[in-house]
Amino acid sequence: MQQLLALNDGSSIPALGFGLYKVEPEVTTDVVVAGVEAGYRLVDGAEFYHNEPQVGEALRRVDRAGLTVTSKFWGEESQSRDAVMRAFDASERNLGTHVDVYMIHWPRAARNQFVGTWRAFVELRDQGRVRTIGVSNFTQAHVQRLLDETGVAPAINQVESHPWLPQHDLRAFHAQHGIVTQAWSPLGRGRLLEDPTLVRIAAEHGVTVAQAIIRWHLQLGGAAIPKSVNPDRLRENLDVFGFRLTDDDMAAVAGLETGERTGSHPDSRN
Ligand code: A2P
Repeated sequence: MQQLLALNDGSSIPALGFGLYKVEPEVTTDVVVAGVEAGYRLVDGAEFYHNEPQVGEALRRVDRAGLTVTSKFWGEESQSRDAVMRAFDASERNLGTHVDVYMIHWPRAARNQFVGTWRAFVELRDQGRVRTIGVSNFTQAHVQRLLDETGVAPAINQVESHPWLPQHDLRAFHAQHGIVTQAWSPLGRGRLLEDPTLVRIAAEHGVTVAQAIIRWHLQLGGAAIPKSVNPDRLRENLDVFGFRLTDDDMAAVAGLETGERTGSHPDSRN
């Protein structure tokens, strides 16, 4: 059974999807087909992952109808309206299908253009070209600017989050605005799998450490997109609906917070 999260635009997304960052183009088609066969209904892609044509090939081989397909605007050269429209068209061409969720990949805040970029996203949505618009790697201050200057809240903010970086303050802010927090690197790029506290909790529930961490994400009320290129691990990461972490487990995981990141801080990338 998949769990759905309601979005502030009236639609919904599966709480769990699978991520395609660092999935090599040569294996991407097989990974996406395996993911859909495993039961995932959300495919998290991006222009920057350089594997969208291979995602498109996979989408022709499976039942596209019930899937949520995400892409993200990179904006290396420009974050202008025209750049958004060009990139969106290119992603649709590469995927060979419509994009369901489109996100600004990074705010690139030092350029101070992301509010204009967001207006272009709102235009895409209002034209009915994309169902859901969101952002990625936005801090609270960045999202607040979108609210103040456009009045349109993103439906989703996809940010790095895992037990070292639970993002409690950002999650609380998102909740006030009906924004879904979607965690990238939900397993800390696999580095959290040997943490002794998580190993103990997983053993007590008779599950794997990856499953315990993914369950923690769901019980925080968020979404997550664990990445795996392995069909067995893809299945394992989706098999998290048969157990619940206790309040003590959740408190023990809260004690793991260090603030450590596996990727860039939103303000350091431009
Ligand atoms: P692989 O792709 O070989 O399965 P994150 O989603 O936090 O970025 O973590 C991804 C990393 O964790 C990848 O290296 C992935 O390797 C590994 N991984 C994903 N799922 C599991 C799992 N269930 N057990 C062990 N490692 C996993």
